[in-house]
Amino acid sequence: MSLILGIETSCDECSASILLHEKKAGVDQFIPLSVSTFTQIELHQPFGGVVPEVASRNHLEQVQPVILDALKIAKVSVEDCDAIAVTNRPGLIGALLVGVTAAKALAYSTNKPLVPVHHLEGHLMSAFIGNSSIKFPAVFLMVSGGHTHLHFIEEQPHLWKKDLLKSSLYGHSIDDAAGEAFDKTAKLLGFPYPGGKWIDEYSVGGDPAAFQLPRGLKNKDSYDFSFSGLKTAVMLQTQTLIKLGKLESSTRDLCASLQEAILEPLVKKTIHLSNVKKAKTIVVVGGVSANSRLRAKFTQESNVPVVYPDLKYCTDNAAMIAAAGAIRFEQGAGLVAQDYLTLNAFAVADS
Ligand code: KG4
Ligand code: ZN
Repeated sequence: MSLILGIETSCDECSASILLHEKKAGVDQFIPLSVSTFTQIELHQPFGGVVPEVASRNHLEQVQPVILDALKIAKVSVEDCDAIAVTNRPGLIGALLVGVTAAKALAYSTNKPLVPVHHLEGHLMSAFIGNSSIKFPAVFLMVSGGHTHLHFIEEQPHLWKKDLLKSSLYGHSIDDAAGEAFDKTAKLLGFPYPGGKWIDEYSVGGDPAAFQLPRGLKNKDSYDFSFSGLKTAVMLQTQTLIKLGKLESSTRDLCASLQEAILEPLVKKTIHLSNVKKAKTIVVVGGVSANSRLRAKFTQESNVPVVYPDLKYCTDNAAMIAAAGAIRFEQGAGLVAQDYLTLNAFAVADS
């Protein structure tokens, strides 16, 4: 059993969490005692996207309050925790450094081990929080604002190898991530940042077949995705509708059609990999996993159970970082001061 303080500052959410990791009949249980998150969305909205400098300056102001809040809600002190887990890659470098520096200071002053966490391992782990029903082998579709990855994972998290993300990767987006595709096309249609949830909402009642929009990399044998062609197609369609004075009356149909163009390859390729590999579960994680149509399509089309994180763990949060930290801590990845004082943050995924 271990109690982990998790810290996440890789992008526009400043988050801390206290999470209990224990085993019941040999099965890992991840129980969050608290999650405290300050979302910066309103700060970035006037700019139509995340401004890195604004993000890191705000993390600097919020990191201490969210940690104190998480400890207070869980009614524990840092001394009660067995380790501190912090996202150190990938993400906005200035934003990551705030979390890493705060974690180092806290670990040093309380003499606790520090566990560096890969943000994408955190997203994979988000589905296990409060859920012990995931059966392996499993296919994981990770659809966040910055990444679209398809993984095939054979074993329980406590057996995951150090290079899990690389060795289990079957496909990824070669250009925009699915979340990025939602956000960029939503911006073209005049929706505020982040646009995914608006497209989801405005697609309700719209006809997904109303507009013919491109599906990237349709080749059945490739597990990669491409969404960059969609922006131009949506822009041209929007211009035509403006000329015809029909943009407003067609917004729901256009949203439903572009949503379908993003979701169709995601669902098809995930189910194809699951069938080929005879997976027992499909797990869908990351911000886009909150999408209602994505969930409906999986329900209709998958013949194995499809598992999602609780909605509050779909977007960035420190509970998933604490969960990934708990696994790596159990495997011996907790660093002592002489090692973690030189720990760095990295902007790119495979550092
Ligand atoms: O996982 P996340 O918090 O960010 C990264 O780690 O990158 O995901 C944020 C992304 C944004 O692109 C946002 O538009 C998208 O998730 N998103 C959605 C929905 N809710 C959030 N996309 C489609 N439908 C939604 N309901
Ligand atoms: Zn994320």
